[in-house]
Amino acid sequence: MAKTAKKEERTEVTEAQIAVHWKEEGYYQPSEKFIAQANMRDTHILEKFGLANFPDCFRAYADMLTWFEPYRTVLDTSDAPFWKWFVGGKINASYNCVDRNLAKYGSKAAFIFVPEPEAEPDATITYQQLHTSVNEVAALLRGLGLKAGDRVTFHMPMVPELPITMLACARLGIIHSQVFGGFSGQACGSRIQDSGSRVLITMDSYWRNGSLVDHKANADIAVRTAKDLGQDVDKVLVWQRYPGKYSAKTPMVPGRDFFMNDLLKDHKGKNVEPVALPSEGPLFLMYSSGTTGKPKGAQHSIGGYLAYVTGTSRWILDIHPEDVYWCMADIGWITGHSYIVYGPLANAATSVLYEGVPTFPDAGRPWRIAERLGVNIFHTAPTAIRMLRKLGPQEPRKYKYRFKSMTTVGEPIEPEAWRWYYDEVGKREAVITDTWWLTETGGFLGTTVPAIHAMKPGSCGPAAPGIHPVIYDETGAEISKGSGKAGNICIRNPWPGLMQTLWGDRDRYVKTYFAKYNKDPRSKDWRDWPFMCGDGAMQAADGYYRILGRIDDVINVAGHRLGTKEIESACLTVPEVAEAAVVPVQDEVKGRVPEVYIAVKPGVPPSQDVIDRVIKANEEVIGKIARPKHVYIVPDMPKTRSGKIMRRVLAAISNRRDVGDVTTLANPDVVEQIRTMVQGKDTVTTREELPEDIAKFGQVE
Ligand code: WTA
Repeated sequence: MAKTAKKEERTEVTEAQIAVHWKEEGYYQPSEKFIAQANMRDTHILEKFGLANFPDCFRAYADMLTWFEPYRTVLDTSDAPFWKWFVGGKINASYNCVDRNLAKYGSKAAFIFVPEPEAEPDATITYQQLHTSVNEVAALLRGLGLKAGDRVTFHMPMVPELPITMLACARLGIIHSQVFGGFSGQACGSRIQDSGSRVLITMDSYWRNGSLVDHKANADIAVRTAKDLGQDVDKVLVWQRYPGKYSAKTPMVPGRDFFMNDLLKDHKGKNVEPVALPSEGPLFLMYSSGTTGKPKGAQHSIGGYLAYVTGTSRWILDIHPEDVYWCMADIGWITGHSYIVYGPLANAATSVLYEGVPTFPDAGRPWRIAERLGVNIFHTAPTAIRMLRKLGPQEPRKYKYRFKSMTTVGEPIEPEAWRWYYDEVGKREAVITDTWWLTETGGFLGTTVPAIHAMKPGSCGPAAPGIHPVIYDETGAEISKGSGKAGNICIRNPWPGLMQTLWGDRDRYVKTYFAKYNKDPRSKDWRDWPFMCGDGAMQAADGYYRILGRIDDVINVAGHRLGTKEIESACLTVPEVAEAAVVPVQDEVKGRVPEVYIAVKPGVPPSQDVIDRVIKANEEVIGKIARPKHVYIVPDMPKTRSGKIMRRVLAAISNRRDVGDVTTLANPDVVEQIRTMVQGKDTVTTREELPEDIAKFGQVE
């Protein structure tokens, strides 16, 4: 049964130290009470979703949806590895998330919006009201000439207008591409260009950490950036945070910018029939960072994606229509698309949307919201857990909410942080699912089925039903469970939630995710196409997986993927910078943060001004999340004789580790100079092993 560590230990050890001290952990069991009410209690479920029953097992998820026309083929592999699911079926995601809930749940809340200012009242949106709004917005979009297959980019904050606009697009088959609201205007612009959107939908302002942010300013930058890259935006549609009032300083551009609330006046009460779309039509794009500087647009399907997120929301998150479910992620990321909007609504859930920062105005805020709204399912990321633990370790005790289940997602969670989540937030009552997955995978890969499997802190568990992971070494040999060795985790089989392709780049899709372990590029047999996730992992003897982090040059900052190449290119926009190298450093709260090394051009004196402008460049090109922890101006980069920057050496220095043997470098002396600059003359480096993702960092090139 549940065993907890002593209090004193908990406060003495920093998260970063814990991360390298992981050992085999004990199990925690779900309570009888939880099991009795769970949606999925069949202890044979993983066998039923075994490879012997693949792909037909996934009919169970497709059958949770309402189809306008039934599908004929479960999985079509003829264009491997571009899989098609539930082929022949006609479906509409907006219908499944809204219309079909009206008869039974029309007057129940679909969303409860909680504004950041605590004095501002919640806004409850029933399924009936959601239906009305989605139809009106769909009528507006159709009136602008938008139709199935067109792309529309959103740059929206966490407000109900975001899911409303997503569902309006889905009703017509318009492919939405939401860019995280915290990304800069430039980052939004390059995604507009890649997707070929001619319409940008945004909001004038939103609350963040106590201030009303002028968000419309980003739209102007985004449109300019897209234009410079060759993509014209004809229309910018602006929602108003306070309808009827413009809360931004940036002027509207006549003929290009329109207020949604003005345009909607012409569409009051209009109904738009949900279009019967092919199952394998695209639903949305979600951009994510990879090894190169160019973000990739993961393209998700309508039928397969919706089936997968609906099924996993029901069985893993254990959402029932009576539950009040709160996922504190941002809809701008995949977690929000799958597990705030599509999955929960297809299950007729009541989903809480919170506009702001979890710790605003204090670390008791989430628990006050949970108490007031009767939230009983809670979902968040390790970064938020670490932050709330640090700022208010005993805050949850002050509030009378009760969670039956909780989820963590986005980064590895240290067992100590996990235990705080379990003991304090979950009050030793709630089960925890640690869900490991990626933007590209649409939904959960590694997780427990909460009523069936014991929890083990720090391990995501076995895999979701129908997901069959395998860990390969560099040569493609399988690493067996219990061997204590780590390798590249792949999924042996396709599943309905997997993206269909990268938008406009079929080659990159094949190369990035399949090429390494595929032996026959002409094969039409799915067994020849294991999907490479890009994470290092190991499997314990009990079959549970522990995810060690990215094996490519992607830094997971507070659960958000940032490409090192994107950060380095941002640094190079400062004219004085000759070379830039970025490395991940361990951080107590955010898991990893980027640290930047730059070399300036000859004749340029190192200065604070250059450092400040490098920081600013990252905020402008990518967004505030890319702000480096430190920027160091170095006399030269450590390089191999062939001139390659040794990021691995810099990562060791930044993480206070021994740099190892550097005598083969072209300029070994510079390493000591940089070390002294960063660590000081006498700093003793720690002997502890680096976490796998940092140890591997800089090897993919
Ligand atoms: C990491 C987020 C450990 C992982 C849904 C993956 C995790 C990347 C977990 C994808 C977890 C996600 N435990 N690591 N439970 N969940 N990751 O695309 O490195 O934003 O490759 O998708 O986050 O991040 P993305």
